Amino acid sequence: MRARPLAQIRAHMLGQILSVTLAVLASPAPAQDIDAGQALYLDFCAACHGLQARGDGAMADLLRVAPTDLTGLSAGGAFPILRVAQQIDGRRPMVAHGGDMPIFGRWFQGQGADVAMPGPGGQPIMISRPTADLIAWLMTVQQ
Ligand code: HEC
Repeated sequence: MRARPLAQIRAHMLGQILSVTLAVLASPAPAQDIDAGQALYLDFCAACHGLQARGDGAMADLLRVAPTDLTGLSAGGAFPILRVAQQIDGRRPMVAHGGDMPIFGRWFQGQGADVAMPGPGGQPIMISRPTADLIAWLMTVQQ
């Protein structure tokens, strides 16, 4: 077999890399991972808000303010994605969640790229991936 010139091999490899990259970029943004969101909910929220998000977690009786029934977040119409995202990732501090020192630490601020979800009026808003997954699960339990 005749050795191929290095430049030709490089060009071939670059072509391969480019086509894989383009394929990844062209695929639609992955939908939020509802199962991952449920797992996060059980880890971080269920103790207060309850396994089914009805506000009846094991710690509820110990709290001076009752945890919200999160299955009613859409009661006003559309699910308030922006408000809930900010209440979870700490941009909208809540005393019940630790105020300026959220009980979830920095987890929900995200570790990588944010993902887009439809905000009020339909325009995309950027939310950290764990918050988006958690919200996707919360949307499935709305009454
Ligand atoms: C230590 C207990 C506790 C934990 C853990 C907790 N919450 Fe809460 N949460 C509360 C309480 C209490 C309230 C009600 C606060 C109030 O009415 O002032 C509340 C309120 C909320 C609200 C506000 C609802 C509204 O109508 O504004 C949202 C949204 C919420 N929690 C989501 C979550 C999510 C998601 C998690 C997990 C990431 C979580 N909470 C973890 C106690 C907790």
